Amino acid sequence: MVDVENILVLGAGLMGSGIAQVSLMAGYNVTLVDIKQEFVDKGASGVENGIKKLESKGKLGEGVTADDIMARLSKSISLEDAVKNADIVIEAVVERMDIKKQVCKTVMDNGPDHVIFASNTSTMSITEIGKDSGAPDRVCGMHFFNPVPLMRLIEVIRGEDTSDDTFEKTMAIAETLPCLRGDRYIAPVLKDRPGFIVNRMNAPVQIYLSWCFDQAAKKGLDWAQLDADAGGKMPMPPCMLTDFVGIDTMVHVMNYYKETLSPDFEPGETITKLNEEGNLGQKTGKGFYDWSEGKDPIKSKIKEAEPAGLFDLFTTFAIMLNEGCRILDEGIASGYKIIDDANMAGMNAPGPFGAGKKNYEDWSKLLDNLADKTGKDYFRPIELMKTGGFKKMRK
Ligand code: NAI
Repeated sequence: MVDVENILVLGAGLMGSGIAQVSLMAGYNVTLVDIKQEFVDKGASGVENGIKKLESKGKLGEGVTADDIMARLSKSISLEDAVKNADIVIEAVVERMDIKKQVCKTVMDNGPDHVIFASNTSTMSITEIGKDSGAPDRVCGMHFFNPVPLMRLIEVIRGEDTSDDTFEKTMAIAETLPCLRGDRYIAPVLKDRPGFIVNRMNAPVQIYLSWCFDQAAKKGLDWAQLDADAGGKMPMPPCMLTDFVGIDTMVHVMNYYKETLSPDFEPGETITKLNEEGNLGQKTGKGFYDWSEGKDPIKSKIKEAEPAGLFDLFTTFAIMLNEGCRILDEGIASGYKIIDDANMAGMNAPGPFGAGKKNYEDWSKLLDNLADKTGKDYFRPIELMKTGGFKKMRK
């Protein structure tokens, strides 16, 4: 066990309650903090339900009861007070820079001299969050995946001002947090860049998907035909997956990368239109598909459809390999094994390097063709991919 006893989880929403649950299960004292009592209470009952469920399945370990574990949980609506005895604050408040900066400063102004502020942000700069806090050396990122108790990956992110001590201690704390589906995998993220590792590597696949949607629309094809191209090899093919994630989310995420990585992330016409119409996918009952009868009729439609010959699964691997190479090139990860392992732990899917070691030459040609065809230069393979130079960067 690391030299930490008290964890403060800030924000008792979806992610905060999951983080509180695994922190309690690891044996820490946990204080759950939010802005209103009803939010803290709701978060705490979520934690309790999660732990009681495990107890009923006999999964808490010999002689450990849910009551024992819950006795280590406190609740508060005053960050100033609660932070006084915290060793680390794991922040999962709403995704707004002004709020993240403000709570970070409150933590540093009121917490002990050793307190660490670890942000679970998906898209904000860790450096910026810590910059005006008075102790940017004690600020870092701790990026969990949803649902926290089940997803194995935690990315620990080094901001520009993060000290070695803060980074190492946060890595060590992350290692102690249990996962209900296998061993935790902690990926060190050495640079504070958009998307960190896993979201970044998967990001440009969306440029390709968006382009495929627009091509299918131009050709007047049925969405099921485009999905039939996946040949049943994906847990959810492109249109179905986008409906499931939410069209608005895809548009939002693409706009974020358009601002931070490249203008080539501009969302295409099809998703822009669906978004404007409010046809956001499963959650609104309609997106690419009509979800009113559930997913089974959609699946049957895809099974019966004539493939469009547009979408190609290998192309997505090639795109990910190129982005993985950018991650290495920018010094975000030290080696490709970490990137592949992180993808498996965060996405339940193999990363591109395993197959990429043999296929990088063909895949580079494929990406050049794709860049020509789509007019998106972001697809062009970078030197590290074209030359196979990444093969020397394993660890
Ligand atoms: P959520 O909306 O479920 O919860 C946010 C909570 O923060 C709410 O309970 C809200 O009352 C509270 N809050 C707002 N201002 C606060 C303040 N000043 N002090 C204390 N609490 C405050 O949001 P969710 O989904 O749990 O996301 C939280 C963070 O985790 C965001 O930064 C998000 O980007 C990140 N994240 C979310 C993932 C997801 O799949 N939902 C995955 C990975 C990261």
